[in-house]
Formats: sequence, C-alpha cells, structure tokens
Amino acid sequence: MKTIALVSTVGGAGKTTVTAALAVLLARRGRPVAAADLDPQNMLGAHLGLDTFARAGLGHAMAGQGEPWHGNTWRNADGVLFAPHGETTLAERTAYEARLAQEPHWLVDALARIDFPARGVALLDTARFPSQQAAQAVRAADLVLCVTPPDPAGCATLARCFPSLRETGALVKVVVNRLNPARDMQRDALVLLRAAVGDALELAHRVHFDAAMPESLARGEWLFDEAPHSQASHDLHGLANWIDAWLDGTLDVGMAVDSEHTR
Ligand SMILES: Nc1ncnc2c1ncn2[C@@H]1O[C@H](COP(=O)(O)OP(=O)(O)OP(=O)(O)O)[C@@H](O)[C@H]1O
Ligand SMILES: [Mg+2]
Repeated sequence: MKTIALVSTVGGAGKTTVTAALAVLLARRGRPVAAADLDPQNMLGAHLGLDTFARAGLGHAMAGQGEPWHGNTWRNADGVLFAPHGETTLAERTAYEARLAQEPHWLVDALARIDFPARGVALLDTARFPSQQAAQAVRAADLVLCVTPPDPAGCATLARCFPSLRETGALVKVVVNRLNPARDMQRDALVLLRAAVGDALELAHRVHFDAAMPESLARGEWLFDEAPHSQASHDLHGLANWIDAWLDGTLDVGMAVDSEHTR
C-alpha cells in the first residue's frame, strides 16, 4: 500500500474536496482505497456520503481513546473505506497534539495496521500545515500533494513551507486548485511559486475553478458525474490518471521515491 498526504498552507484550498474526489475516482478505476481524516473540521465523511458528522473517529484514537480503525471505518457507495476525524473537544485536541508531538510515528504505525493489498492506496486529509497532523501525514507519505489556490497567500506560504515538506524524501507535487487563467493575479502568483518549487509545479496537476463544485457537494453528488465534460471534471480525471499510473510505477516522475518511504 502506498500513502498520499494532501496538505495545504492556507484554509479553503480544496484539500478535502480533492481528497474525496481522488478517493472515488481511484476506487472506480479498481484501486483499493482507504481515506483518513486528520482534520478536526471532520468534513471528509460529509464529502464521502455521510449525512451526519461521525461522532467517533481518528481524533479520539489520536487522543488515546481506543483503536484507530476498528469501529471507526465506513465504506461509501464507491467502495472507499474511510475513517472520519470525529467530533472532538478542545481538550481532546490539545491532548492529541501533545501525544503526536511525543510519538512522531503514531500515524506510520497506525497505517501499517491496515491490511491492504500492495496496489492499495491510503489518502490522508490533514489539518492546515504546519500542524502535528500534517507533519505525521507527510512523514507517512510516499507522495505529498500540496493543494493550493493560485493566489498570493496560497503561493507565498507554500513557497516558504516547501523545503520542510521535502525533508522526508517523499515525492512532492503541487496541485493548483481553483485555477482561473483569465486572472493576471493568479498568473503572477504561480510565477512566484514556480520559482520556489521548480518542477514540483506541473501544468498537468491543476483543477480549474468551477462554481458548480460546492453545489454538487451540497446535493450529495460528484461534479464529474453531474457535469462530466466540464473542465474541472476533466482535470480531476487527469489527476486521478496520473496518480493511478504513479501507483503502478509506470511514470517517470523525475525524482526517485526513497525506498524507506515505499510500502
Ligand atoms: N475547483 C474548485 N472550484 C470551485 N470551488 C471549489 C473548488 N475546489 C473546492 N471548492 C470549494 O471550496 C470550498 C473549500 O473546499 P474544501 O473544504 O475542500 O477546502 P479545504 O482545503 O479542505 O478547507 P479547510 O482548510 O477548511 O480544510 C468548498 O466549498 C469547495 O466546494
Ligand atoms: Mg478540509
């Protein structure tokens, strides 16, 4: 099983949206997919079909209350196995942040307990970077996807954090989300980002802005089902295809994945 961490350095970048969409698109390609929510906002379950916020979840396991997967794992209509974060109190989050700081490999160990075939993939939705959850996810990842909006705040904060995201030796790629090429400001922000991250920023890894994205979510549907020919649907399929090929090892990604990080 390989692990993909989705991180972002600003709020609302589209991390949860992209995590859920990729989970479903990869599952529809026949890939065994697990998804884990490490963000106290507890939104991944809603994207994957829960009609209420799961009360129990990984947040409690991180705080030392019970086991990470047993009793916390759901399966959605497309066969994605997922573990919500659950509803936690401030005291519980303070406790688990302290624990994660003490046990930097908590998530690596928890993921090793998932009994998944070698061709399976785990997708990790994280709290905004920097955070204990994002640090654990990056440490566990073979591939880190930095989801960022093409605006000055998103690009400048990612440019600043990028060296620390690369420290583990995992492959790191930028996914530009909410792209609107007609806006000069976005082009300028991406030039700045490109100067900082080099070929981690590829044209292929982008998802255009589509106002129908939140509307589909609100209806409990997927944009790529409701509007399969839209640019954003095409982009999400392209990203899923790229990841599928990377998982199969048929891509020349230009940078070797450290064997220590390959499970
Ligand atoms: N490509 C897109 N086009 C238009 N809207 C989008 C796009 N991607 C995501 N959104 C919308 O942007 C909002 C934020 O997305 P999402 O919750 O996935 O971001 P996030 O990075 O997980 O946020 P948070 O920092 O709160 O965890 C949602 O309403 C989502 O529907
Ligand atoms: Mg989110």
